[in-house]
Amino acid sequence: MFSYSPASQCLLSLALIGLVLINYQLLVAADDSTRTVVQDAAKPHIILILADDMGFDDVSFRGSNEFLTPNIDALAYHGRILERLYAPAICTPSRGALMTGRFPIHTGTQHFVISNEEPWGLHTNYTILPEIFQKAGYSTNLVGKWHLGFAKREFTPTYRGFDYHYGYWGGFIDYYHRRSQMPVPHYSMGYDFYRNMEVECGDYGTYMTDLLTREAERIIHANNNTKPLLLLLSHLAVHTGNANAPLEAPAEEIAKFHYIKDPNRRKYAAMVSRLDQSVGQVIRALEKTNMLRNSIVIFQSDNGGPSVGQFANTASNWPLRGQKSTPWEGGVRVAGAIWSPSIRELGSVFHPTMYIGDWLPTLAAAANIPLNSTELRLDGINLWPALTNHSATNQSARTVNREIVHYLDDIWHVAALQKGDWKYVNGTTAAGRFDNLLTYRELYDTDPRGSDYFAAVGNSTVSAVLRKYTEVEVTRDQVMSLRAEAAIKCGNGVQHGCNPLVEECLYNVATDPCERNNLASQPEYNSILRGMRKRVRKHRSTALPVANRRGHYENSPARHRCLWAPFLEEAPSEEFFICGLYGMPCETSS
Ligand SMILES: *[C@@H]1O[C@H](CO)[C@@H](O)[C@H](O)[C@H]1NC(C)=O
Ligand SMILES: *[C@@H]1O[C@H](CO)[C@@H](O)[C@H](O)[C@H]1NC(C)=O
Ligand SMILES: *[C@@H]1O[C@H](CO)[C@@H](O)[C@H](O)[C@H]1NC(C)=O
Ligand SMILES: *[C@@H]1O[C@H](CO)[C@@H](O)[C@H](O)[C@H]1NC(C)=O
Ligand SMILES: *[C@@H]1O[C@H](CO)[C@@H](O)[C@H](O)[C@H]1NC(C)=O
Ligand SMILES: *[C@@H]1O[C@H](CO)[C@@H](O)[C@H](O)[C@H]1NC(C)=O
Ligand SMILES: *[C@@H]1O[C@H](CO)[C@@H](O)[C@H](O)[C@H]1NC(C)=O
Repeated sequence: MFSYSPASQCLLSLALIGLVLINYQLLVAADDSTRTVVQDAAKPHIILILADDMGFDDVSFRGSNEFLTPNIDALAYHGRILERLYAPAICTPSRGALMTGRFPIHTGTQHFVISNEEPWGLHTNYTILPEIFQKAGYSTNLVGKWHLGFAKREFTPTYRGFDYHYGYWGGFIDYYHRRSQMPVPHYSMGYDFYRNMEVECGDYGTYMTDLLTREAERIIHANNNTKPLLLLLSHLAVHTGNANAPLEAPAEEIAKFHYIKDPNRRKYAAMVSRLDQSVGQVIRALEKTNMLRNSIVIFQSDNGGPSVGQFANTASNWPLRGQKSTPWEGGVRVAGAIWSPSIRELGSVFHPTMYIGDWLPTLAAAANIPLNSTELRLDGINLWPALTNHSATNQSARTVNREIVHYLDDIWHVAALQKGDWKYVNGTTAAGRFDNLLTYRELYDTDPRGSDYFAAVGNSTVSAVLRKYTEVEVTRDQVMSLRAEAAIKCGNGVQHGCNPLVEECLYNVATDPCERNNLASQPEYNSILRGMRKRVRKHRSTALPVANRRGHYENSPARHRCLWAPFLEEAPSEEFFICGLYGMPCETSS
């Protein structure tokens, strides 16, 4: 196994600080304590770990001690906390923005999600992220969830630039049986787990978070630093499974959180904990294969957590308002962190506003891949210079005063636009039932490890590994001050309510991240309000029609061998399969 001598570590650090990546390659190659030459330092390995439906406050680096996430926190403290990271409020639009670098209105995915029975997908005319990296010589891998359509084969990951996919095509599966029933009447349960285009039954019954992690480790070990790697580890965690058992985790994991009184929250904590361990295992695999020192590792959630209502998993977005699928900060502002040795300001909070659609141009820049922005018509912007170089953070006015179309759905009549620090909200989802602060931060049922938080983080796998890549030890004071800096300060200004169903709302989310003080009715903000309204209209004029299509009962797994399959390309069977507990593809074959 490769290990660093202090001398090589120091040299490496100097190289990282002083030289551009090409020189770094030469230096590493010249260092005789190095056993392997970095294969192509200009093309870093990129590992994006995506959580599904994780609450904003369900990582512990913002101050929660209810249950700790020591690996994710260690990634954040050794790397950079993405303080103002935004994403669309719900799965399909969020993943569409990640893949295309565009707002959902510019891909027709702005309304709700692709429910499994629906015959549509992300339009194939977009050049998407894995295609760009595949063309540039990357090995491109998706492990886990896709959720951008599978009704036709051409919608699925291996037709869209992924060399390899291991996981599921639809919105969710359960944690042990890999099947899902849509919350729509008259559709049966269906199995949804594939290796590329083949139904995958291996390791049936293994807990999904562990299974996906193991596959990610396998891919990393198989790569062994021979080819630039793009790995999107798109977890099921911490989305709910099926309605009969929405929250699932191994019993021994749940037992660790016995001090949490609410049994659902206890299970959720266990699900988060397994996800946290996954981050440690991935980092460990990257180190063992000597890939870590040329890697960019990102962790983030796809959208805010659903605390209540459909798919509720007990997530907490405290102290932000709202939740998944709402236009409020609790829907669109997500937990995230990045680590890479090419970042010069490691161990700091990254303050600029960031969007999930920024990863495409940002990571392309990191990998030195030229993009034709006319052709791609990106809404995302390249933040690589800002992420890696502190003095470049303020350089672009576009970065400072940037716009994000959080919501523009003319079926549900919701618009939410951010421009600089201003946020405009008009209309809301679920008739406003999820518009308020929906959770609180637990102060009593807390993680025993929280009594020495610094030791807990220090004892994580991620700390043990990243410590070797850090010039200066991350101290207790640094951890505590980063944790304090990442805490959300709601401010205690005057509260002015707003009912977005009958009026427009305007907030300054820099000073009022909890969206308590509606400025829309105050005359001095009139011109800002008018400006925001105008921008919404302008964006609306550029929106594509929604691509959503209704499902048909013939698409039910009951007519397709109990599978969620590319149903538009195969005739439905005459026979109706009984797709309950028995009769699922893997159960009959075993
Ligand atoms: C992709 O196809 C859709 C639907 O036909 C169309 O509206 C959109 O403009 C196309 N986009 C591009 C980039 O060609
Ligand atoms: C991985 O690469 C290293 C260095 O090139 C080599 O020593 C090792 O045998 C490789 N491992 C595998 C499993 O191929
Ligand atoms: C970018 O794409 C446009 C439209 O396809 C094309 O006209 C232009 O030549 C391309 N630019 C470069 C630099 O390749
Ligand atoms: C960037 O701008 C912010 C606010 O405009 C300022 O507080 C900060 O000091 C600036 N940072 C740098 C590195 O210039
Ligand atoms: C960092 O950004 C500053 C300001 O844009 C620039 O002058 C400098 O060259 C950058 N440094 C590196 C190493 O890219
Ligand atoms: C790990 O935890 C123990 C207490 O259980 C503590 O004494 C030790 O300092 C911790 N290690 C690190 C590296 O923080
Ligand atoms: C705000 O919502 C109302 C009601 O849906 C709508 O008539 C109006 O056009 C919206 N304004 C903007 C700028 O979207």
